[in-house]
Amino acid sequence: MQPYLNTFSLAGRVALITGSGRGLGLEIAKAMAGSGAHVILNGRSADRLQDLANSIRATGQQASIAPFDVADSMALNKAFATIRETHGRLDILVNNVGARNRKPLLEFSDQEVWDLIETNLVAGFSLAREAARLMLPQRAGRLITITSIAGHVARAGDAVYSSTKHGLTGMVRALAAEYGPYGITSNAIAPGGFATEANAAMLSDPKVAEHFATRSALGRWGQPEEIAGAAVFLASEAASYITGHVLTVDGGLIIKM
Ligand SMILES: NC(=O)c1ccc[n+]([C@@H]2O[C@H](COP(=O)([O-])OP(=O)(O)OC[C@H]3O[C@@H](n4cnc5c(N)ncnc54)[C@H](OP(=O)(O)O)[C@@H]3O)[C@@H](O)[C@H]2O)c1
Repeated sequence: MQPYLNTFSLAGRVALITGSGRGLGLEIAKAMAGSGAHVILNGRSADRLQDLANSIRATGQQASIAPFDVADSMALNKAFATIRETHGRLDILVNNVGARNRKPLLEFSDQEVWDLIETNLVAGFSLAREAARLMLPQRAGRLITITSIAGHVARAGDAVYSSTKHGLTGMVRALAAEYGPYGITSNAIAPGGFATEANAAMLSDPKVAEHFATRSALGRWGQPEEIAGAAVFLASEAASYITGHVLTVDGGLIIKM
């Protein structure tokens, strides 16, 4: 009998993780590589991605790079064509890029609203569609979208970001219904407050940092590597009957009164 632990293995899988040059995406990529997957790193800085891929390969794991801006549809399509040529398959898509522009709605121009919608929401659809093109003939695949607790609860001064994350939550559920008959699952991970570069300003203000920490049940910020277990689990065979689900990884922030 196979050890049950093997059910969590990603050996032989090809995984594209967008925005994996730092922060949560990088931790997810490292964990997936450590679980046996060939990880394709994405971001807009090819040099940085190449260094990271080299350091993953130096440990005997598999990694390559696909540098492109997720909001650039031509570059995105080209990257998927390369994945098709190189690997002939894609097993896991982690749609992780999420831009933020925190300020009151009155200060937003229409163009700034569109920019966030394009990077966070439109790109989510484009990535899922191109991934599905590869996954449908396989009759298997894992679509994992990184949303946010801002896709469930609201905070003043964050209306546009929050709306894109609510939209992604809808996409995740709709794609679960659309692709379920083809063996493709679609799930979301909704992070709470993580100590990544994106939150550097909040973390450097002790009052704001403390406020966020004490809002969560665990009473602290998440460390970036604490996102990775959820992603490996959802990508693995162990999650074969889970689809359309949003898994909050927030230290109990949204369940606390
Ligand atoms: N950190 C948190 O507390 C938190 C909470 C809730 C939700 N989230 C969500 O989790 C995800 C990751 O957050 P994070 O804090 O890890 O972000 P981060 O530290 O800002 O990292 C973002 C990564 O994405 C890349 N990137 C940014 N824009 C891109 C684009 N247009 N095309 C391709 N790559 C791009 C960046 O590299 P380059 O700049 O080199 O391209 C970088 O590697 C986001 O969706 C975010 O909304 C985070």
